[in-house]
Amino acid sequence: GGDKLDFEIRPNPQPVSAAERAALLANPGFGRIFTDHMVTIRYADGKGWYDARVEARGPIPMDPASAVLHYAQEIFEGLKAYHAADGGVTMFRPDANARRFNISAERMSMPHLPEQVFLDSLHHIVEIDREWIPATEDSSLYLRPFMYASEVFLGVRPALEYLYVLIASPVGAYFSGGVKPVAVWISQEYTRAAPGGTGAAKCGGNYAASLAAQAEAIEHGCDQVVFLDAVERKYVDELGGMNVFFVYDDGTMATPPLTGTILPGITRDSVLALAAREGRTVEERPVSFDDWRADAASGRLREVFACGTAAVITPIGVVRTPDGEFTMGDGGPGEVTMALREQLVAIQRGRADDPFGWVH
Ligand code: COI
Repeated sequence: GGDKLDFEIRPNPQPVSAAERAALLANPGFGRIFTDHMVTIRYADGKGWYDARVEARGPIPMDPASAVLHYAQEIFEGLKAYHAADGGVTMFRPDANARRFNISAERMSMPHLPEQVFLDSLHHIVEIDREWIPATEDSSLYLRPFMYASEVFLGVRPALEYLYVLIASPVGAYFSGGVKPVAVWISQEYTRAAPGGTGAAKCGGNYAASLAAQAEAIEHGCDQVVFLDAVERKYVDELGGMNVFFVYDDGTMATPPLTGTILPGITRDSVLALAAREGRTVEERPVSFDDWRADAASGRLREVFACGTAAVITPIGVVRTPDGEFTMGDGGPGEVTMALREQLVAIQRGRADDPFGWVH
């Protein structure tokens, strides 16, 4: 296939009824309910991308020897679609997801998907499943494009066949408490990614590897785990599924640099742009956990927040370690955090100008 594919549209003959859909959309949670359709595109070595389809969402037959089931050659993306103030439908920075998808593909020795094909697949799903976009302020349609090695082969080498799939899930807030500050657990035992590893790729394996640490966090009453760097076990990398920002009393901010061990978040990038627009200094630099604790104690560090497509911008209230815990400020949502959140959400939902051209 070339850079453009024709999608065969096969509407679901048995879509969910309007009444049932409305009941589901009233309380979507996160990632539990799905729309009527999916997109699938096949890839074969020598043939390229072919058989692009929009069809009824449903199980995908899979041979037990499909390579992905054994060696985890899989990548994914996450982005959201919204109802715009003008009655249209918008997506936030889908071109950035298209680019990152191919960067992840390279790291996992998978084929590139032309960016235009990725974008076309998104347009198709939001068009056909547009009734599934929730209307309330804290909800949206979460789009989940992914690609996996479908070749039936047990040898360890890049597969010769892949399937690209796009599904869509109406979602509310990622954390059950909504925008309330979350508690985080500093993992001493586990790390997420080493230099030279797959930390910057959005591959399923990174999230599988985070689960044991995340389970430990939950055991300690926390919502997310914080991973420290794998070399010195000293510097903050990222949380289980989101990036992290620090806000200081002089108005400056810091976030860990993209050195290959953390996921280059699109929300992270958007926060950097929003903060710069306000004239804030934001340093992309290593932040040690010792400094986090000391600066929180001295009051120099005022706010810490997590950010990601799923989490949007979520304040961090409590930080827990095996040797005790501390609270950020009074444990409530910080002013800078909530202002940045409002600016981001206002652009995403078309309530504010979009000087960066982020909204499609
Ligand atoms: C996101 O979409 O924000 C993710 O990184 C995936 C997961 C945490 C839901």
